[in-house]
Amino acid sequence: MLTVVGMGPGSPALMTAAAQAAVAEADVLAGNARHLAQFPEFAGETFALGANIAALLAWVTARQAQRVVVLASGDPLLYGIGTRLLAHFGQAQVQIIPGVSAVHYLCAKVGIDMNGIWLTSSHGREADFNEIVRQPKVAMVTDLHCGPREIARELVARGAGDRWLVIGENLTLENERIHWQRARNVQGQYEMNVVVILNER
Ligand SMILES: C[S@@+](CC[C@H](N)C(=O)[O-])C[C@H]1O[C@@H](n2cnc3c(N)ncnc32)[C@H](O)[C@@H]1O
Repeated sequence: MLTVVGMGPGSPALMTAAAQAAVAEADVLAGNARHLAQFPEFAGETFALGANIAALLAWVTARQAQRVVVLASGDPLLYGIGTRLLAHFGQAQVQIIPGVSAVHYLCAKVGIDMNGIWLTSSHGREADFNEIVRQPKVAMVTDLHCGPREIARELVARGAGDRWLVIGENLTLENERIHWQRARNVQGQYEMNVVVILNER
């Protein structure tokens, strides 16, 4: 059986009890280095997950008789590995344990109502900035190639330099920082982040 566990944004305090129970019962464990490091006592075989998705699929396939757990950041189905695993193995073979996404956490932390929010991502994909400027409230998962500075540049180019960016960096980790900036003022480099874009503060 394959279980995909939502780990939350980082702090173990935001892992659910169901997520912790699934890991405790796992025979083998796959996840990125940060997630695997959270279980130093795990004695079974592990798989270090990076961009090697094809290798992960083969590794999981070879272990289908075992209790396989894949650790996913945030929520597995919000621009996460869960979507890929569901598509590959089919819903009957995959149990998904939801997690607190980085977007949930950022909205909760700064009091942004999530109703009606448009969720999108620039993580390994082209973001649709024409649609983003049409939306009054957007939350974006980002990556190193398209983060706050690139988002701000695209907004300014579309006459939306007044929009507020709420940048949540290293959320729940010891170096968490949250910045409110108008798009026209965003310049710096940010570490791992999600961004909420608002018409008004
Ligand atoms: C592959 S996506 C996964 C999103 C995840 N499924 C979720 O629900 O949050 C990875 C991206 O999530 C965001 N992310 C994950 N953890 C984060 C954290 N602790 N702080 C800020 N952003 C985070 C970053 O944009 C990162 O590049």
